[in-house]
Amino acid sequence: MTPRRIVVDPSAPDPAALAPPAAALRAGRLVAFPTETVYGLGAAARDATAVAAVFAAKGRPADNPLIVHVADVDAAAAVVAALPPLARRLATRWWPGPLTLVLDADPALPSVTTGGLATVAVRVPGHPVALALLRAAGVPVAAPSANRSGRPSPTTADHVVADLGGAVDVVVDGGACPVGIESTVVDARGDVPVVLREGAVTREMLDAAGHSAPAGTAANDAASPGTRHRHYAPRCAVALAATGDGPQRAAALAAQGLSIGLIGFAAGPPAVRTLAVVADAADLGRRLYDGLRAAEAAGVDVVVVEACPEEGIGRAVMDRLRRAASASPAGPRELSSD
Ligand code: TXA
Ligand code: MG
Repeated sequence: MTPRRIVVDPSAPDPAALAPPAAALRAGRLVAFPTETVYGLGAAARDATAVAAVFAAKGRPADNPLIVHVADVDAAAAVVAALPPLARRLATRWWPGPLTLVLDADPALPSVTTGGLATVAVRVPGHPVALALLRAAGVPVAAPSANRSGRPSPTTADHVVADLGGAVDVVVDGGACPVGIESTVVDARGDVPVVLREGAVTREMLDAAGHSAPAGTAANDAASPGTRHRHYAPRCAVALAATGDGPQRAAALAAQGLSIGLIGFAAGPPAVRTLAVVADAADLGRRLYDGLRAAEAAGVDVVVVEACPEEGIGRAVMDRLRRAASASPAGPRELSSD
């Protein structure tokens, strides 16, 4: 079964077009929608039955909590126990935008939404369609990325339909997501932000705004449940090549008789299927998940992805890339130039 698809203008969505999906959310049904990062699979966050259906549709482990999406800071305040000063400052600076804050949860939130934790992750997305839908729905919306658990996150409505099909009632199609990788997740309960997942709000940006996050803060199991699960893997093997070495590595693997795809900063030779030529780290982030899905659709044995410099958003991109490579069927395959 295919879900109902509602196509909207990503920059100026028609409120009338969003009324049915907003009503579906209020009625406890599942609605996929675009955000500036990736597509989310939404359900009313206070409706335990609806949220349980999200876990079932994704095949997601019950101990991995969801991000609650709201339209503004006031709506965020309603799903947390308190908005401490640091959280208010971060929200003022980056909402709406790709920043998720982990805070003490409103105890009335269903435990299925919070994965049984005393905290909740909350964000105000920056995409006009997501914001308009949240305003129209008038309820907080729990939404993980709208992929089957362990798969690359969806950056188009087609990716959502390919992974979830009839498990979702409505897909709001607002085109491709402009950022392409998931939001930065920050624990904002203390005096300094603790980065649990890197994203488009970078450490450099936090530093520049006077919110220096402790360097090298590792996302550990207890702090960020999602980090212990398999992630971002397409059905073909993923090999990570050093910056500048993508075409050569791809050619060398193709010479071994393998069918090879390439996502990198330059096109490969004719023996290699070049899937995406990217301009910089942000562009790689925007096109990575689509490129991985294109690789599996093309039926290649291995997709070679060229590393980007690990600064700014490049850190988040490399985090996703390493996880995709280590979760791929061939296991970890970080190819250096030797
Ligand atoms: O950009 C995004 O964040 C997208 C869009 C749809 O908003 N959503 C997304 O959700 O990536 P998901 O469920 O795929 O990833 C949420 C991450 C997981 O790593 C999860 O473990 C973490 O946030 N998380 C959720 N609640 C948490 C909490 N209370 N404490 C720590 N980490 C939490
Ligand atoms: Mg996800």
